[in-house]
This record gives sequence, structure tokens and C-alpha cells, in this order.
Amino acid sequence: MIEHRDGTFYLQTAHTSYWFAVTEHGHLEHIHYGPRLAIQDPSALRWSRVARGGSTVAYAPEDVRYSLDTLPLEFSGIGQGDYRTSPCEIRTAHVGYDLDLGYRGHEVHAGSLAARTLPTAHGTPAEATTLVIDLADERAGIEVALHYTVFAAADVITRRVVVRNTGPAEVVVEKLLSFQLDLPEASLGGAPRLITFDGAWIAETHAHDRPIGPGFSGVSSSTGSSSNRHNPGFLLAAADADEDHGRVHGFNLVYSGNHLGSVERGATGLLRVAGGINPQGFSWPLAPGEEFETPEAVLAFADTGFNGLSERMHRFVVDHVLPARYRRTPRPVAYNSWEALSFDVSERRLLKQARRAADLGMELFVVDDGWFAGRKDDTAGLGDYAVDDAKFPRGLGSLVTKLSALGLQAGIWVEPEMVNEDSELYRTHPEWALRIPGKPARLGRQQHVLDLCNPDVCDYVVASVGALLDAHDFRYVKWDMNRHLADTHSPHVRAPGMTAHQYVANLHDVLRRIFEPRPHVLLETCSSGGNRFDLAMLAHSAMIWASDDTDPIERLEIQQGLSYLYPLSTISAHISNAPHQQTLRNTPLSTRFNVACFGVLGYEYDLELLSSEERKEVREQIAFYRTHRDLFQHGRFRRHTKPHPDRFVWQVDDGDRTILGNFQRRVVAAPAPDLLPVAGLEPETTYRVRSKPQRLMIDRFGDLINHVTPIRLDPRGVVLSTAAKFTSLTDAAEEYVGTGALLAQGIRLHHQFSGTEYHPGIRMLGDHGSTLYVVERLEEGP
Ligand code: DGJ
Repeated sequence: MIEHRDGTFYLQTAHTSYWFAVTEHGHLEHIHYGPRLAIQDPSALRWSRVARGGSTVAYAPEDVRYSLDTLPLEFSGIGQGDYRTSPCEIRTAHVGYDLDLGYRGHEVHAGSLAARTLPTAHGTPAEATTLVIDLADERAGIEVALHYTVFAAADVITRRVVVRNTGPAEVVVEKLLSFQLDLPEASLGGAPRLITFDGAWIAETHAHDRPIGPGFSGVSSSTGSSSNRHNPGFLLAAADADEDHGRVHGFNLVYSGNHLGSVERGATGLLRVAGGINPQGFSWPLAPGEEFETPEAVLAFADTGFNGLSERMHRFVVDHVLPARYRRTPRPVAYNSWEALSFDVSERRLLKQARRAADLGMELFVVDDGWFAGRKDDTAGLGDYAVDDAKFPRGLGSLVTKLSALGLQAGIWVEPEMVNEDSELYRTHPEWALRIPGKPARLGRQQHVLDLCNPDVCDYVVASVGALLDAHDFRYVKWDMNRHLADTHSPHVRAPGMTAHQYVANLHDVLRRIFEPRPHVLLETCSSGGNRFDLAMLAHSAMIWASDDTDPIERLEIQQGLSYLYPLSTISAHISNAPHQQTLRNTPLSTRFNVACFGVLGYEYDLELLSSEERKEVREQIAFYRTHRDLFQHGRFRRHTKPHPDRFVWQVDDGDRTILGNFQRRVVAAPAPDLLPVAGLEPETTYRVRSKPQRLMIDRFGDLINHVTPIRLDPRGVVLSTAAKFTSLTDAAEEYVGTGALLAQGIRLHHQFSGTEYHPGIRMLGDHGSTLYVVERLEEGP
């Protein structure tokens, strides 16, 4: 809901209020973003101006107490006495960088307003209202429209900016962020924290939480994508906020390109938060009459801790960012060929895996990299999508038909933004790759980036992927992108500083053209794992491959980091072999499942190598996941506050059912009892909590097995290794009963193994151990 009264704009969601007012000099003064307040005279919340600030510049000679440097502002100009960083730098021929943006008018629209060039969140008139505030500086010949869309039930407000050149000559936009927000740091307890999600390839989105010091803090990307270095989403939290209490602001961007998110802690008790396109390497000329629009920023606030904020962000992504066709669609359990077969795929080898996959209960079979002509390794083939006849003598159609006979949907991997030098496409069109004129282009993973600023390249990609999808009954596509941009120069834009942004805008158009007419195809996006995990990719896809790292202990950090801002239905999580291919860590099959099930489950495994016990375990895992799929993909996810750094507790619930995961990264000798609090239950209803049965593979014990066997056995001998294939021990048989109020205090879990005895009720966790707990309602309370 949006109301305008006496110069103040009141943006109201179900639980939050966002207010700002037009000042006596026409600037927009930010007043409040926080808990919902009844609409009223906001004067008591306005920044005092009864005395002149020292070392400030007065905006107007007749009003010496009015300085832009000390006011909380909605969108600052440049050169008017506000010495904090401006979200906007526009170079005009006659006045340079001077920009004084004043209020000229506003309009309110029912529903969201789609951007022309970029994906944006969508809301019907019943779900959303949009306020467009027009600011202008006539002398500079610039109009700026600030868009605010209020998603009332979702408790989210989005912002974006459209700038227009109204002058007689070209201007150059050198920086234009999507939002600026000046928050009193006292509203966050005076010692605010910044939480960012950072990492690298195979170590994406680790949460980092630190106090905000004076000056700048923030995140950015210059890789051409939203990047595995810093996710565009970040949080600001009060000093005392934790998972379930306290004030938290969340910010994200609907953008897949170079981004910047910053917090500037200044001298006047205000935090300037801003975000949008990274100005590094960006510049956008505007001819008279032309416009430029920024990506959309997503803002949410909760005073119920990080979990409260995450719940709002999750619901918003599902209801207003994902394409409607993917919203609550169940994601199938996938088999993916990559980690088991790498490039060495063929119809024969894939079908061997597919028979096993179908038998174990998987639903989708994905042919990853290596299926097309020339693709023997990563040096060749990208760009041409003709099937390799030697690997698939009867074509892909034969495989798809056979998969279908096994009851499996077929999926296919593509990497259409890239080209290898050793490809027909590159031999025909070397000029289609991004390159600085007169300089050899750099390679990344042996490949070049196709110039998506060139409309012919876009048409080629749309036609070639479209033809592949139309020739076969593929129900799923994995769209990969395995290198960063460099040599970011295209002859198809008017100025070099336009290339990176135009690339991203055209990528979204390409994705729209391919996938909107083919709604039966489930799209998963990927970029060397989580190099492009962002809301703009989710405007086209159902989910994103979170990381090339499938080691569950690494995944605890990666998936937990993502969970702050992205719902589980968008986080693709697979189980692979152990020891792990990147970390050499040996983890139990149970833990690999227990982590991956908090997301969209899949397997990347040579299924032929599974022992009979492992096959039983995998079959039960999949059956369990399929029974509770709705909870794992669309339930409410909560992180429990970590009792110590090596323990993670996750919970999903839907008001009816609850499942918890208890994970131990590292064992300590003589551990204190673990407490497992169950959140969100009805206090007076009685529940039973049972551990999900899982197998303890006996080869985990080595020589220790001799403590329980009647005769001594060589742990590496044939007897024990044969026995390990066909027998296993029961792990974690636990059961607890209590009311919701009692269980919320923290179940005192059974002892962990500590060498004194073994029986099925002892928790055999060790390093990397974990258990799932299923909570069932027994009796209603009075
Ligand atoms: C990177 C992806 O993240 C992997 O899952 C796999 O698809 C490879 N590319 C294939 O080249």
C-alpha cells in the first residue's frame, strides 16, 4: 500500500513501513525503514535541523541550517554539499558532474512495472503497487525516475532507477546505482554488522559477519557475472541480532553482471547503503531523449532475526521472481553424468547408469558435458551442437526414447555463451568472440566468450539451442557458463563501457526467447558451480547449481550461506562419491544425503560402483526425499543458532510436518550432550521425534570391527571387504516424545560414540556425521 499525505510518502507492507518526504528544497528525505507504523505525522522521526552543522556547506544562502551532508536522503545528486558517495555520476557537456535532483511529481501504478531491458520482479495489481517519483535537474538536462514497488504481503520493496537525457547534447552515465538508503546506525543498536556471502570456485557463498567500521565496506564483482567472489546479496544487522531475534535488513539485486553493494559509515550517525551496477569499466552514453534503466534492487526488513528476514526473501523469490511456471513445481530427483563420466559419455555408458538410476527411484537423467562432436575434453567443440556420432550412433533420440522407457525424463547440458577455437563456429566466425582490437584474446578453460552484444550471435544461440530442444523430448536443460569475461570489448555497442552490461541484458533476452515458448523444459543455470547465483538468473530458471563442490562438509557452508537469501527450491545439491574429488575428504553416504536433501536432490555418481548396501541406502534416501519433497523444496527453512562452530542444525517445516538435520563437522573427545531445539511447534501439542534410519557402513571402522566380531579379521582382507558390501550396522535409532513447548527447550540427544560401547541407540557421528530427525504430531493440545 502506498499513501501520499502532506508531502510524505508512506510505503506500507504487512509488517514493515518505508517512509520519506519531500523537503522544503525539493530533495527526498528518508524518514523510516523498519517495523510497520500506523500512518501519522512523521515529524518526530525527521532529522533535526535546528542548528548549523560544523564543516558543512549550506544548500541555499537563505537557509544556512539546511545541508545535504547531514540529511538522510533517498537519492543524492553530486556537487551540492553532500560529501558521501553519490549513487549517480552523469557527465554533461556544459556542467560536468554537477547534479541537483529535485522532486517534480509522482505517479502510482497498480502492479509492478516491467523494465524494458532487464528482468524484474513481477506482481499483479492485487500483489503490488508501484510508485514512480520524478526528479529532475533542468539545467543539467537530466530526469531521474525512482521506481518503488511495494509487495505488501511479501514484506518486500524493490527499487530501480531510470535516467533520461532531456538536454540538447549527449551525456554519459558513468555511475548509476539502483538504490540508496540512509539509515540511522542507532536504529541497528549503534554497532551495526555487515554480512556478505563470499568465496571462490568450489567455495562459494560462505557467510562473513563483521562490524561495520568507519568508511566503506561492501561487495563487488568485475568478472562479468554476479560472481563466486561476492554474491550481490548482503545483510545489515543490529549488534545483538541472531537467527531468531533482532533487526536485520536484507538487500539483493536482480542482476547477473558486475555489481557493487556498499555501506558507508559517515560522520553524522547515518549509514549510506547503496547497490547496483559496478561503475568500474561502465559508461553509457545517452543521446538526447534516450534513457537508461538500472537493475532492480530488492529490500526487506525483519525484526525477527536472520530467519525472519530469510523467510521474507524466500517467499518473495518464489512468488515474484521465479517464472510462474516453476513457482511450486516439484523438482525431480536427478542423475547427472558429470562427476562419474566427465567427457566420456556415450549411449552405452549412459544407459548403464540410467538403468541403475531408474531402479533406485531417480526421475530425471541429465547428459552433462561431452555429448557433441569434437568434445573429447575442454579444448574443443563448444559452439557446435551437433551430436557426436561415434558416441551416439543412433543419435540423441534413441537415448531419449530409452530413458523414457525406463521412466526417466531426459535432460541435456549446454554452454551456449562460449566457443572453443577448435570448433566449426570459431573457424567460420572468429569475430564472434569478445576481443580487444589488435590484441590476442585471453582463454579461460580453453574457451572464448561469444559476443552477445552482436544480434547475430544471439540469433545463433537462440536457433541452435531451440533446434536441439525441438528435435528431442528434453524436459530439462542445464545452461552452463564456465569462464569470466575478459577482453570485454564489442564492436556492436557505441562505447566500450557498454559491453559488459549489454552482454548481460542480451543474455536475458536470449534466455527469454528460448525458454518462454518451451514451458515444459525445466531450466537449471550454472556457472562453474555458483558463479552466477543471482535473482536475474532465477527470473528464467527453476534452480541454480550451487557449487562444483559436492563435498557435504563444504556444502554445509555453501548451502547455509545461500539460504539467507535464496529458497531451497532454487539450490541444486547433488551427492557424489567419497573420497571427494576436490577435497579428498571421506564422508559417510548418509551425510552426503542429509546435506543434499536440503535443496533439489540429485546424484553424480558411478552407480555401477555402489555396493548392495549402498544401493539399499540410496533407494531409501530417494524414497524418503520423494515422500518429503514438498517440505525440502518448499517448506519453511530455518537455521538454528550454532551451538559451536562445528555444528550446524537446519530445519524445514510446513506447519504440519517438521524435519531437522543435525550435522557435526568435527568430533571432539568426551563431548557434552548435544541439545536439539525444535522450533515452530504448537506448544501444547504432543509430538514424537524419530531419527531417520540410516546405515553405518562397516568399512568405516577398520580394525575396530574386531571389537565386536567373534574372530579376528583383517580390515583390508577379502572377508571384511565382501561383508562390507552386503551388511551394515544400524545408525542412530533414536526416539523422543514431548510437547512443542518441551521440545523447543532442546532435546538432549543420545550419547555419541566414545569408544565405550556400540549399540544402535548410540549416535555414531565421528567427523562428518549427521542425522535427520522427523517430527510427527501425536495428539492435539487441549
Ligand atoms: C561446470 C559445471 O559446474 C559442472 O557441473 C559441469 O557441468 C562442467 N562444467 C561440465 O563442463
